Amino acid sequence: MPSSSATQRIRRLDAVRRGAAATMHVARTAITPSLRGQAAHSTLISTATYSPWLTDPAYRSFASRIADFTLLDEMRLYELWQLAGQVGHLEGDAIEVGCWRGGAGCLIASRLDQGSAASTMFLCDTFTGVVKASGQDSVYQGGEHADADEGAVHDLIHRLGLTSVELLVGIFPEDTGAPVADRQFRFAHIDVDVYGGAKDSFAWLFPRLVVGGIVVFDDYGSSATDGIRSFIDELQGHPDLAVVRNLNGQAVVVKRGSTRSGL
Ligand SMILES: C[S@@+](CC[C@H](N)C(=O)[O-])C[C@H]1O[C@@H](n2cnc3c(N)ncnc32)[C@H](O)[C@@H]1O
Repeated sequence: MPSSSATQRIRRLDAVRRGAAATMHVARTAITPSLRGQAAHSTLISTATYSPWLTDPAYRSFASRIADFTLLDEMRLYELWQLAGQVGHLEGDAIEVGCWRGGAGCLIASRLDQGSAASTMFLCDTFTGVVKASGQDSVYQGGEHADADEGAVHDLIHRLGLTSVELLVGIFPEDTGAPVADRQFRFAHIDVDVYGGAKDSFAWLFPRLVVGGIVVFDDYGSSATDGIRSFIDELQGHPDLAVVRNLNGQAVVVKRGSTRSGL
């Protein structure tokens, strides 16, 4: 039997949650005009409160140094930080397809450098913007996010003191996959905004992903990137992988312990 003070505390929390739920309902439906008419979209506000990125000193210290070099919010960055911290026991390199100004990729590289075997983090970008937009993508048309340059990413890598990060410049995988084709990977971040780019990157990567390796897709939950959502939903039910969609809008794919791969 819980004590009466514990029961009172739970009752108080329940009342706060009910109040919060009502406020959130209003907030969720007061969404930006661009989302109106998209029945499956609302502004996501969770009733969960635990926010470990606010107090994790190692994360905070590194994130403050890359904040101006990424489009990702803290919750997505912290998810990458946490997941990259869980592949230290695996062999293999890491890769980010779509690094833009390099912030998120450097964060992953730094986390992988802590307490695990030496590996290389490859940062891939065209540096001329998004490619392979198609009929599967209703917003992106190609050429977006061209406001990044290779030299600035090199400078960031140098300033952060990262020695195991390499840039692959061009369309991945067609232009830049060959030099790393004989590698194995334990972690990947695919942030390319469109269906064709996500599909081609994953098809190249999955056979080279070690069992237990993790691929994080950005943009699953964004209204502007319906092509990414379509691709992830196609992966659902594949026996060689598990897919987790989180409230941050990412989709996390973990390779299961099978050598079969129909991809
Ligand atoms: C949203 S931005 C990436 C944001 C970045 N990950 C961050 O942390 O802010 C998408 C990037 O993907 C790049 N891109 C898209 N498709 C690509 C492909 N197939 N190969 C290489 N880069 C690609 C674009 O040039 C663009 O810089």
